[in-house]
Amino acid sequence: MKRQVRKAVFPVAGLGTRFLPATKASPKEMLPIVDKPLIQYGVEEAVAAGVETLVFIIGRTKNAIADHFDKAYELEAELEARHKTDLLQVVRGIVPHGVECVYVRQAEALGLGHAVLCARPVVGDEPFAVILADDLIEEDAREGGTMSQMARHFNKYQCSILGVERVPKTETNKYGIVHPLPFANRISNVDGIVEKPKPEDAPSDLAVVGRYILTPRIFDLLTRVQRGAGNEIQLTDGIAALLAEEQVLAYEFSGRRHDCGSKLGYLIATVEYGLRHPELGDRFRDYLHAFGCRFDEPASVGD
Ligand code: UTP
Repeated sequence: MKRQVRKAVFPVAGLGTRFLPATKASPKEMLPIVDKPLIQYGVEEAVAAGVETLVFIIGRTKNAIADHFDKAYELEAELEARHKTDLLQVVRGIVPHGVECVYVRQAEALGLGHAVLCARPVVGDEPFAVILADDLIEEDAREGGTMSQMARHFNKYQCSILGVERVPKTETNKYGIVHPLPFANRISNVDGIVEKPKPEDAPSDLAVVGRYILTPRIFDLLTRVQRGAGNEIQLTDGIAALLAEEQVLAYEFSGRRHDCGSKLGYLIATVEYGLRHPELGDRFRDYLHAFGCRFDEPASVGD
């Protein structure tokens, strides 16, 4: 029987040092882009792809995420009393009907690989998605959200799939980089994966960004991964072990990505989402225009 992706893991237990002090008491995934926290964009992408169980791997700032996705009785009663029906719908729609939230504590920030391993008791023996919500990826008008695109390929190929994007050669040292072999249009067979290689050592310019579909075999392999730099268990090492046993594909998704884990990427996303906001967009554009901004050519900014 064909397997489907029904569970998505959201690691939100990182220290978020690049955004301190904003991330001292709240994870960076709760930073808003205009009026919605990053994590909610990620959740919406997962739900659109057919995910029914959201597994949050939470750390020392555990309450913020759980509070956001919990029912807020007092707030709802107050909005109802004030006849703010639009806002009431917004608040009630944060977790769609039939979608379940599960919270797992990662007691120590021992790396992304360790965070994914913490999801094992909830995920069990099923394929699952991993979404790093600080990689905000715009939905493609024709192909849909990135996770929907990946889930469609998973339904066909039934193997692990990594979301990848081409990056400038000078930036390979910020990402996991795959060694690709031709497979299909925008899809490669992954023959190897290296974490943060120097440009001269990088096997390609295809970088793994924050979207994965993984088979449950990854859990056993992660238990065997040696801790590396910063005492962390790297997900890349687990994937390297996985592709020695199973087929792993790299998929070049369609959709503009914003690295909201960096301050510049976060600011750029805020401006772009602000310009497209149904209530604020026009006024924000007028403001930026008066400020001297031009909108006739797409901006390109190195990070
Ligand atoms: P990052 O590499 O962006 O690290 O983690 P970070 O700690 O969140 O941020 P900086 O670099 O200090 O600013 C990638 C993803 O993995 C999660 C993070 O929450 C983020 O979504 N993560 C990382 C965990 O859940 N646990 C960890 O131990 C490490």
